[in-house]
Amino acid sequence: MIYRDHFQNYKGYAIPKAQLIIADIPYNLGNNAYASNPSWYKDGNNANGESALAGKSFFDTDDDFRPAEFMHFCSTMLKAETKTKKVEGEARQKGDAPCMIVFCAFDQQMYLIELAKRYGLNNYINLVFRKNFSAQVLKANMKVVGNCEYALILYRDKLPKFRNNGKMIFNCMDWPRDNVSEKIHPTQKPVELLKTLIEIFTDKGDVVIDPCAGSGSTLVAAERCGRKSYGFEIKKDFYNAAKKWIDEEKTTIQEIKELGFAKTELSKLNPTLF
Ligand SMILES: C[S@@+](CC[C@H](N)C(=O)[O-])C[C@H]1O[C@@H](n2cnc3c(N)ncnc32)[C@H](O)[C@@H]1O
Repeated sequence: MIYRDHFQNYKGYAIPKAQLIIADIPYNLGNNAYASNPSWYKDGNNANGESALAGKSFFDTDDDFRPAEFMHFCSTMLKAETKTKKVEGEARQKGDAPCMIVFCAFDQQMYLIELAKRYGLNNYINLVFRKNFSAQVLKANMKVVGNCEYALILYRDKLPKFRNNGKMIFNCMDWPRDNVSEKIHPTQKPVELLKTLIEIFTDKGDVVIDPCAGSGSTLVAAERCGRKSYGFEIKKDFYNAAKKWIDEEKTTIQEIKELGFAKTELSKLNPTLF
């Protein structure tokens, strides 16, 4: 379920508390969103002079983003921690504490870690995602270019639910390219990456919330994993495209469950089949 509203208005909706909140907050790059990106120049060529994007932020909403209200939302909408029960025959107690994952710029990390503490999210684990490409192509032969994305796992006191089938999970992960999903948003996250994160920190039926949903990629990933998904997006065009994507995804999942195949998707490819 995605709402076209500010996440700050969450009280107006009956949203259950989340096992996992995934958010990709505006990077607050201010007037530098396109730095190192060829779009800074007309036709991507610095010989043509600066384009209309030079010195701009990605969206007008980026300038107005309020991190403290975001953290308040997350601390309120994350499930409470419960007492862990000792399961007979198991050496260790299995925790089911909730957590949030926030994608952020490298230099936002310390600020977010400190801000989270003010809202009871006292602990963190940092995540690094390694891409095999870089968007920083300008002067790429003259300096080291970035190929990593960053995120923080933030949690209160107990270690979050962890579904790893007994395997270790490294904090540096590969960033899978998403060549399948329609490109709706300039900072759209790959569905396969979101699915991996959702499967580590939740079980089927758990609630996943994305307060800054953009394309709806987190909600689509959550639906594919059999989790309940809720999100907010203020920009009309992103909201409309995200809603369409999520609705189509739900139809596909339902049809596969009932018929064993995705009838609507198949009939788009070949309308004469049905
Ligand atoms: C970095 S993008 C998220 C991209 C998303 N992770 C994806 O994969 O498509 C952040 C989004 O948050 C939205 N946004 C900013 N402030 C918001 C608010 N207060 N409530 C809801 N959405 C907000 C912006 O319009 C923008 O689309």
